[in-house]
Amino acid sequence: MTTGIIGAMQTEVEALHADMKNATRTDIAGISFYAGELYGQPAVVAKCGVGKVFAAICAQTMILRFGVEQILNTGVAGTLTDRLGQLDIALASAVVQHDMDTSPVGDPVGMISGINVIEIAASEKINAALASAAAEAGIRTLSGVIASGDQFIADPARKAFIRDTFGAIACEMEGAAIGQVCYINRIPFAVIRSVSDSATGDAGMEYPEMVRRAAARSADLIRRYLTDRKSVV
Ligand code: ADE
Repeated sequence: MTTGIIGAMQTEVEALHADMKNATRTDIAGISFYAGELYGQPAVVAKCGVGKVFAAICAQTMILRFGVEQILNTGVAGTLTDRLGQLDIALASAVVQHDMDTSPVGDPVGMISGINVIEIAASEKINAALASAAAEAGIRTLSGVIASGDQFIADPARKAFIRDTFGAIACEMEGAAIGQVCYINRIPFAVIRSVSDSATGDAGMEYPEMVRRAAARSADLIRRYLTDRKSVV
């Protein structure tokens, strides 16, 4: 069972890259894929770049070229709720694309034409294993909808729209694209995001430091999940 692990930015994958054994690098479509062993499990790790298109390219390539059988998306997110504090981890029960909108032709906001769904469910089995690995380590998690779009959310009105329209707990820029690729390929997936900011634009000077710490926390949960061999789907 090979696990694909995708982060958008270098900070989101660097700890995992450092811990890989016997890794070989293959460059495809401008993305470097590192295939090897991670915490005793076969894995492919890649930094995809920011946004839904890069994330989709990366996920599809992992499936077709590397035969991954599950995909984990790790990284940082903006929080949309008081129940999810700085550095807490959001586990996606489902993902939505908050910038998908064909409502002028009669569709619900967020509906993905063709597959005609708004929410794409993440793997309950992977989530259960992640939640128990987090609980054992005393890491706070909250399960709920994670919303993705090609926008860094830094405006309270947009934040409120995403929360109120989709009931989402966190926002980021890749998870739902990975979810869509996994859905159409029938591959289980999970989105693991540690909170780096409040999605209101008041992040301030400490933002880069929070990104670093949040990214490391998310990667640490993946380490615990793979190490505990809870990765069987
Ligand atoms: N990733 C981390 N914080 C984010 C935000 N506020 N909006 C979108 N993606 C993010």
